[in-house]
Amino acid sequence: MKWKVRFSYLPQQFARPGRILAEIRRHLKTCQFTLGPEVAQFEKSFAAMIGTRHAVGVGSGTDALKLALKAAGVGYGDEVITAANTFIATVGAIAEIGARPVLVDVTPYFTMDASLIEAAITPKTKAILPVHLTGEAADMPAIMKIAGRRNLVVIEDACQAILASIDGKTAGTFGAATGYSLHPLKNLNVWGDAGIVVTNSGGIAARLRLLRNHGLANRDEVEIFGHNSRLDSIQAIVGNWLIKQVHMITQKRIDHAAMYDEAFSKMSSDIRLPPRRPNVRRVYHLYMIEARKRDALYEFLLKNGVEAKIHYPIPLYLQKGLAPLGYKMGDFPETDRQAKCILTLPADQHLTAKQVRYAIDVVREFYKRN
Ligand SMILES: Cc1ncc(COP(=O)(O)O)c(C=O)c1O
Repeated sequence: MKWKVRFSYLPQQFARPGRILAEIRRHLKTCQFTLGPEVAQFEKSFAAMIGTRHAVGVGSGTDALKLALKAAGVGYGDEVITAANTFIATVGAIAEIGARPVLVDVTPYFTMDASLIEAAITPKTKAILPVHLTGEAADMPAIMKIAGRRNLVVIEDACQAILASIDGKTAGTFGAATGYSLHPLKNLNVWGDAGIVVTNSGGIAARLRLLRNHGLANRDEVEIFGHNSRLDSIQAIVGNWLIKQVHMITQKRIDHAAMYDEAFSKMSSDIRLPPRRPNVRRVYHLYMIEARKRDALYEFLLKNGVEAKIHYPIPLYLQKGLAPLGYKMGDFPETDRQAKCILTLPADQHLTAKQVRYAIDVVREFYKRN
């Protein structure tokens, strides 16, 4: 299919790789492929961008969450509360450290419903892992209040939400530590798997540096059991090139979302926009709407060259792989409702206004006919 409005913008993103390749060629002479100076440089820029004291590069967004939990003292037998509508990686990271994921349902703006957290807390609960899904920001002030009252660690999953904020405070600066993904599909992306953790805690940062590198304090001394999860120097080179564009990337996505919002808010009563909280800056990693006729609209968009997606059609708790958690159909009604009506439209920084208008026109045409 030759898309008129394609979903993946990677060919455009890296269409002129001259500067990156020159940097990699220079790097080849140093052969510092692991933990080279490019990694430290990227960590410094990333921490400055988010506004935290430390950033520690790791092998993926999943590892960022896993190692952040571990560094904050969460481990085997602990329970970690997270959002029922998230991507598998969040729940997988919790399970990987031997902790038990405990799901709570979500708000109409796709993030953990803070009013349901208290009921999910048990004597084994050690942490809350809110997910800033789609580039929305979870209700961090409310979540931090509960965590403070119940003495729980908060680790944020900001894999989809670089530079989102609440009341001007950047998502990712509320909890003890925050994991980001630099996967090719993320707003700040590199040439493979990579991730990064931010924190204001010197202790957590120091543990993360050990955990990502076999627990090695130096070449010869092992301080703790760790992992092999370093951010590759070559990926850091790509990150160093792209990080300068993140503010532009974010603004373009916000502008495209505003065009969609403006058109869809008055197009058809079948479409529902998620509540747009005025104190939240959304960064639209995914631009999602709800439509009762979602499946037919989805097909119509595809047929007319607009590469729409559904994130995600099957709630995690109904997946075979999560059966050991013991949830049953209907446990998360809002997550279920959303899975049936959510639809994602391309909104990335490489789209032209003409392409966004074309996608809007296709949706309009669908409702004219239906
Ligand atoms: C919400 C969320 N959490 C975690 C991850 C894991 O990131 P990665 O794919 O880099 O491991 C992703 C992305 O894939 C994600 O979307």
